Amino acid sequence: MNYRHIYHAGNFADVFKHCILIMLMQSLSQKDKAISYLDTHAGIGLYDLTSENAQKTREYENGIARLYNLQDYTNCPEVINTYLQIVRAVNNGKDIIDRPNIGAVTLAASTIYLPKFYPGSPYIMRSLLRSQDYITLVEMHPEDVLALKQEFQKDKQVAVHHLDGYQSMKAFLPPKNGRGLILIDPAYEQKDEMQNIIAAMQIALDRFSVGIYAIWYPIKDQEMIQSFYKDLKQLAAQNILITGLSVGEDASAYGGLTSCGMAIINAPWQFEKQLKPMVAWLSRILVGDSIGKHDVRWLLHDR
Ligand SMILES: C[S@@+](CC[C@H](N)C(=O)[O-])C[C@H]1O[C@@H](n2cnc3c(N)ncnc32)[C@H](O)[C@@H]1O
Repeated sequence: MNYRHIYHAGNFADVFKHCILIMLMQSLSQKDKAISYLDTHAGIGLYDLTSENAQKTREYENGIARLYNLQDYTNCPEVINTYLQIVRAVNNGKDIIDRPNIGAVTLAASTIYLPKFYPGSPYIMRSLLRSQDYITLVEMHPEDVLALKQEFQKDKQVAVHHLDGYQSMKAFLPPKNGRGLILIDPAYEQKDEMQNIIAAMQIALDRFSVGIYAIWYPIKDQEMIQSFYKDLKQLAAQNILITGLSVGEDASAYGGLTSCGMAIINAPWQFEKQLKPMVAWLSRILVGDSIGKHDVRWLLHDR
């Protein structure tokens, strides 16, 4: 297990993933009934962007920093305000001043403002939790799980487990209260990670067919992605929405990753209508209209 998320925290892929997660949680929260959120590959709660490891890559520059340093928030989707409020809240509203990016994609301002801490998915989802909701966090890395346990030790609405993420889908599904959101966000260190996801999804859907499953993935090899989509279509699900964001050919300013996507199994009713303008807006802010590509479409749809 070599992957450490601190090198990537707050990058364009995190912004994309976390904004979609917030939208899914908000959509589920429209009903009073309790929600169980399962994070199969949780990482740690908070990432220090001033730490040595985050500073080595500075991937946040073309992620959270772009949203944080916007001059004008008019026409910004509602979820962005919620997302930024969460980031500001975990930092008690205190920003730090960072040096400007000198890479290929440069922020216009000579000074950029940054949150010291970037919240990972556990913290973002904890911020949205109502008193009736519950979170299960699963992490395999011994240091990361320890950090999570310390972070949430006194929190009665959060349980942390040192376990394999795919095993947790067997162990914790179906949730007791019947409504569930599951984030599957692995490190993709294994060559067969996508096959592992499909195998885990077959078991998970068998146990909990009505859950909303959000699977994040890097898009590197088109053949592999097409094969993943083909496998997703074979699952016992009727609705799968996919969305992608691409930063173009020059990945140097984005930590080497050019494109990523999210597959949402059992996406909420008409979710694509909210998602399309949000992803288009993110693409414009994070990449720019002339280079960025984005996509929202149904892989399977029965409605
Ligand atoms: C992409 S990061 C998670 C980021 C987090 N979900 C977020 O959005 O803030 C992937 C995490 O999976 C963990 N991991 C790797 N293999 C795992 C496994 N088999 N089961 C659970 N977690 C694993 C890594 O240690 C890493 O923290």
